[in-house]
Amino acid sequence: MLKLPSRHFLASVLLILLPLFAHAEDHEDDVIQYGQDCAKLIAEVPVFNCLNGEIVKVTVDGKEPSEYTPNMTCDRPAYLPYPKTAEGACTPYTRVQTLRDDNIQMLGLCRRMYIRPIDDPHFDSIEIIMHNVTSGSTCFMISKKFGGNPTGDDGRRVPPPTEETPPAGMISARDLWATPKEVANHGCIYCHDSDPWIYTPWIAQTKQLPQDPYGYHSVDVGGAFKAWPKPMSINTRGNTCTGCHRIGSLNTCGAQKIPTFGDQPPKMTQSLTWMPPGSHEGAEEWSTIYKQSVDDLSRCCADHDAPGCLVSPIAKPHFMAAPQKSASALKTTLPFSHP
Ligand code: HEC
Ligand code: HEC
Repeated sequence: MLKLPSRHFLASVLLILLPLFAHAEDHEDDVIQYGQDCAKLIAEVPVFNCLNGEIVKVTVDGKEPSEYTPNMTCDRPAYLPYPKTAEGACTPYTRVQTLRDDNIQMLGLCRRMYIRPIDDPHFDSIEIIMHNVTSGSTCFMISKKFGGNPTGDDGRRVPPPTEETPPAGMISARDLWATPKEVANHGCIYCHDSDPWIYTPWIAQTKQLPQDPYGYHSVDVGGAFKAWPKPMSINTRGNTCTGCHRIGSLNTCGAQKIPTFGDQPPKMTQSLTWMPPGSHEGAEEWSTIYKQSVDDLSRCCADHDAPGCLVSPIAKPHFMAAPQKSASALKTTLPFSHP
């Protein structure tokens, strides 16, 4: 007579199989695999030293203060929300460096969230954005700690996310970098939605940021990143805000609840005190030129189907197999420079 396998038997089969699934899962969430996938789409990240980066200045009334104190105020604070336990957006000696700026744009940012001497090699969040101008592919990397630990990481040898084994005594890629799932949980794309690069008065004091204001931009590496929304370009006819750069459909134009960062106000309205850069029109004149445009963008942001809204993808369309020249041609002809 046919006998069904006992529960006991099924349970032991499961016990044998489960670790296999768990292993497959680990592999999918592996830093090195992610690094290699990004290298294929974009480029290899070189080894770099945070201390070689340009310092992002923190001034008070235009001068570097004689002493920095936790949670002080300053002329141009960092805009990214730092963990509450850290020492605030005016913490000095963040360093930023362009690793490449050609068809491949790549930048390393070593943020300070705790006050340390200028030449201290420790940093609290090490971040990379890499972008392929031709295809639009963009990858995001961030160190695991993100300010959660006041000792930070030694940034003198930042291991490439593709490096299996570091030289003796150096931190490994798997120990430094967040796994793809952890990166995805930070929701980078919500804020970096208009194009890969975010300019704020803080980081724009350096000349390190690449520009690709109208180029393709998509996170197409797959895996955990498939869960990210695809930002769209929000526009209206004759809009005075979109003449120099796009306005993205996620946190640039609208409030968003972002994983690990919580509720964030729209970047667009946050930027109004300094946008466009170098504009010295009086409040009334500003209002005449820009108010309607900002209102139009907010309206289209809330409802993409509202009348008059021009909503289009930022990713390169699939049918365009051949590389396009337009992105880099635009880049060089646009009057896109900061004051
Ligand atoms: C809550 C919004 C937000 C999220 C989410 C976010 N960023 Fe940013 N990021 C910013 C802002 C704002 C700046 C501009 C610098 C500043 O003022 O802090 C920036 C700047 C950067 C820079 C320097 C280059 C540039 O574009 O200015 C890098 C590199 C970077 N972010 C990486 C990341 C990575 C990697 C993630 C995801 C793990 C991420 N960011 C998630 C807001 C965000
Ligand atoms: C004359 C060109 C110009 C116009 C018009 C302009 N911007 Fe900008 N915008 C810039 C430049 C240049 C930057 C980079 C900032 C810098 O270098 O200081 C920037 C950056 C930004 C950013 C920073 C975030 C990011 O993704 O880099 C936002 C948000 C923004 N602009 C919103 C607006 C809004 C809203 C308007 C309309 C009120 C507007 N801009 C009009 C040139 C312009």
